[in-house]
Amino acid sequence: MDDNTRHGDQPDDPSAVLASILRRRRMHRNFETTAVDPQLLDDVLDLARRAPSAGHTQATEFVVLRTPEATARYWDTTLPSQRREGFRWQGLMRAPVLVLVCTRPSGYLERYSEPDKAKTERGAGTSNWPVPYWWFDAGAAAENLLLLATAHGLGACLFGPFDHEDKLRENFSINADRRIAAVVALGYPLPDEEGRSVTRGWRSATDVIRYIDR
Ligand SMILES: Cc1cc2nc3c(=O)[nH]c(=O)nc-3n(C[C@H](O)[C@H](O)[C@H](O)COP(=O)(O)O)c2cc1C
Repeated sequence: MDDNTRHGDQPDDPSAVLASILRRRRMHRNFETTAVDPQLLDDVLDLARRAPSAGHTQATEFVVLRTPEATARYWDTTLPSQRREGFRWQGLMRAPVLVLVCTRPSGYLERYSEPDKAKTERGAGTSNWPVPYWWFDAGAAAENLLLLATAHGLGACLFGPFDHEDKLRENFSINADRRIAAVVALGYPLPDEEGRSVTRGWRSATDVIRYIDR
C-alpha cells in the first residue's frame, strides 16, 4: 500500500490494526446529525486523555459540546451568519460533537517547580521553554481522539479556533488560564470532498526519516 492509500482491510493482529487505523485516518468534514452514543463518547474521551505529557503534567482538558444547542453556540461564536453561506464545509457544522482541546500552560510551570523538576528552571515562566510542551501534549491527546474516532467508525476533523479563542473562552466559561489548542469535530461521517491540502500528497519516507548510524 502506498502512502496515499486510505483504505485497507481491518486485520486482527494488533500492530496491523493500528497500522490500518493510521492509514485510514483522515479529516472528515461532512457529518450526519445523529448523536454519538454518550457511553462511546465517554470511552473515547477517557482513552484519549491517556496521552503522554511532559512531567506527567496532564494539563490537557476537553471541553465537550455535545448537543445541537451547544454546537450551534460554537458556530454562532466563530462563524457569523453573514459568512456562513459561503463556508465551504457546510457538513462540518452538522457534527454532533465538538471537542475543544484545551491546555493550561501554568500547569507546566507548577509541575516544573516541583522538587524533582525545579533544577530545569522551566517553572520560572513560559518563555523558558524552547519547545512549549503544552502544545505538544495537547496535540498528542488530539491525535488520540482522531485515531480512536477512526477505530470506532466515527469521522473526525481537527481545526483551529483561529481568532475566536477569547470569545469561545467567554461563551463556554473556560478559565482565562486555559488556551484552546484545537477543536475536534466528531460524528458519523457522510461522503465528503477531501481538503485541498491533501492534494499535496505525503512527503516520502526518505524525505522525512534520516537514519544516523555512527
Ligand atoms: C494543527 C492542525 C490544524 C488544522 N487546521 C485545519 C483547519 O482549520 N481546517 C481544516 O479543514 N483542516 C485543518 N487541518 C487538517 C489538515 O488540513 C489535514 O490534516 C491535512 O490536509 C492532511 O489531511 P488528512 O488529515 O485528511 O490526512 C488541520 C490539521 C492540523 C494538524
